[in-house]
Amino acid sequence: TRLPLVYVKGIPLIKYFAEALGPLQNFTPWSDDLLISTYPKSGTTWMSEILDMIYQGGELEKCLRAPIYARVPFLEFGCPGIPSGLESLAETPGPRLLKTHLPLSLLPQSLLDQKTKVIYIARNAKDVAVSYYNFYNMAKVHPDPGTWDSFLENFMEGKVSYGSWYQHVKEWWELTRSHPVLYLFYEDLKENPKREIKKVLEFLGRSLPEETVDLIVHHTSFKKMKENPMTNYTTLPSAVMDHDVSPFMRKGTTGDWKNTFTVAQNERFDAHFAKMMRGCNLKFRCNL
Ligand code: PPS
Repeated sequence: TRLPLVYVKGIPLIKYFAEALGPLQNFTPWSDDLLISTYPKSGTTWMSEILDMIYQGGELEKCLRAPIYARVPFLEFGCPGIPSGLESLAETPGPRLLKTHLPLSLLPQSLLDQKTKVIYIARNAKDVAVSYYNFYNMAKVHPDPGTWDSFLENFMEGKVSYGSWYQHVKEWWELTRSHPVLYLFYEDLKENPKREIKKVLEFLGRSLPEETVDLIVHHTSFKKMKENPMTNYTTLPSAVMDHDVSPFMRKGTTGDWKNTFTVAQNERFDAHFAKMMRGCNLKFRCNL
């Protein structure tokens, strides 16, 4: 089942996702759609659960109605034997939560034209690289990641699924100037989830009682989401995601890169990072 990535407009993608892009170009957003956008492994599932909890007014039972990928359709998703993103979408009543990892060059133009609200989550590149490597190993729709050292090289070169992390975080950051985007950081969510959830509520023009916000913080903790089959992806067949190789809910921490990067890899990465991010005022905290 391991297939090579295919290139679309210069962006490497999983073959099935690339094939889904054609039909996706006809996608018509609804005025109350909310798009959750991230580079992979940056906190998508976490924010998806937070948002569904907000939409359900903190009623946990309602959030247990279906797995996260059915509650929050993943626009470009495709995989034989599993409903595609567009199929899940057809079953989803409004107001809808949508997920994408697409770079702007591949995003359906209608989402930009119609100024669909976006919540973007960025996570520091080193933890993303480590999380992505483990994910490549367990999620068999990816090519074989090879050794950690070669995967890291590919990550730095943008030769992994969805392309360059650097390009992604920068272009979505630029978009905040002209589009309604709430740009958040995984590290901030980890540090103070309540503060970040309040930013989300304000962005959505919603309010919830303090106790409900506390309940959402509690229910969306890493520990709770790891043991919840509706958020931990264990409902997918093991041929698609093999949790014995590495669980989807792996560690959920900041700074885990220190357990994987060698000193030499870290030095190379830092030098490359500085070059790639020169002139960009985004600040990442990866030593928490
Ligand atoms: S995906 O496949 O791209 O949609 O993955 P995504 O959900 O963006 O990222 C997966 C990583 O997020 C961690 N995670 C969490 N961290 C903290 N708290 C909560 N509630 C939470 N839920 C998911 C998950 O463990 C992956 O990170 P790593 O570092 O691999 O543990």
